[in-house]
Amino acid sequence: MIAELDIAKRDLEKNGYLNIDVDPSLDLFEEIEKLKKEKNAILLAHYYQESEIQDIADYIGDSLGLSQMAAKTEADIIVFAGVHFMAETAKMLSPHKKVLLPDLKAGCSLADSCPAPLFRKFKEKHPDHIVVSYVNTTAEMKTLTDICCTSTNAVHIIESIPKGQPIIFAPDINLGKYLVKKTGRDMVLWNGACMVHEIFSNEKITKLMLRYPNAKFIAHPECEAHILEKADFVGSTTGLLNYTINDEATEFIVATEAGILHQMEKRSPHKTFIPAPPDNACACNDCPHMKLNTMEKLYLCMKHETPEIVLPEWVIKKGVKSIDRMLEISAKAGL
Ligand code: 13P
Ligand code: SF4
Repeated sequence: MIAELDIAKRDLEKNGYLNIDVDPSLDLFEEIEKLKKEKNAILLAHYYQESEIQDIADYIGDSLGLSQMAAKTEADIIVFAGVHFMAETAKMLSPHKKVLLPDLKAGCSLADSCPAPLFRKFKEKHPDHIVVSYVNTTAEMKTLTDICCTSTNAVHIIESIPKGQPIIFAPDINLGKYLVKKTGRDMVLWNGACMVHEIFSNEKITKLMLRYPNAKFIAHPECEAHILEKADFVGSTTGLLNYTINDEATEFIVATEAGILHQMEKRSPHKTFIPAPPDNACACNDCPHMKLNTMEKLYLCMKHETPEIVLPEWVIKKGVKSIDRMLEISAKAGL
């Protein structure tokens, strides 16, 4: 086992995770629970994680809820079942804690669509603008950002900025266009997008709406404008979940990553949830990055306390200011 562990640790960078066989007879729920207690670790999971991971998490939430939890937890170790930028955000908010991510290759197409060196040049062309970045960015991008936002608080963040102040919004062009429409602010937009939310098929959604005439169509603001125009409700993952709980409809067509359907079904077992189909052969839309995390990788990373998120001190010090500002504005708005 020691030799196997040494090899796995050596190959961590190549694989992104500890590549060690896990005894299939182990009850991973029980083992993970034990490790949480032994190590005073908290397990935070995003709604797009596979169902089993959601079921064992101490807290399940959207990007805002997860960062609020990472800022206030008293645990010694934060285990982040989500993607890389989320774990980095947790590390920036709790720099003295150990932050673990089961698979370091769990990235984000949206964060990748905005490399910090390119953005720096773009920002130089707009010296009077302040930068609002969606939290789906690298830690380095956060050092170039004045205020972060998530889909839950984006409208409040934009509206908190004085009217005459020009704004750059990065990196999601779809959320950016939605915010321009919603707030009436004319922002300079970076041209990035999420691979999961930009491939919903208008045609297949129209057909589903005809097949389920009583269903409400709900969508995440990372979707393209022509999809959002059809929606009865647009909101963050938490916003969508709450809408399905509180609305009287019993059928919903859901245009976001399919992982959220697990919580929707748990919270409203008598209602029907239909994932909106993408423009390919699949019936629902999974984020390949989010789904890199598995129960086995989660167990191994908690047992051996690796892979760990490590960031340069200057990045933490400079970048965290944009996250702190977001959390302050959100708290004032009661979010
Ligand atoms: P929220 O969880 O903030 O709605 O963001 C969705 C998303 O795409 C996360 O990667
Ligand atoms: Fe990134 Fe989109 Fe996956 Fe969220 S769903 S992690 S924005 S690629």
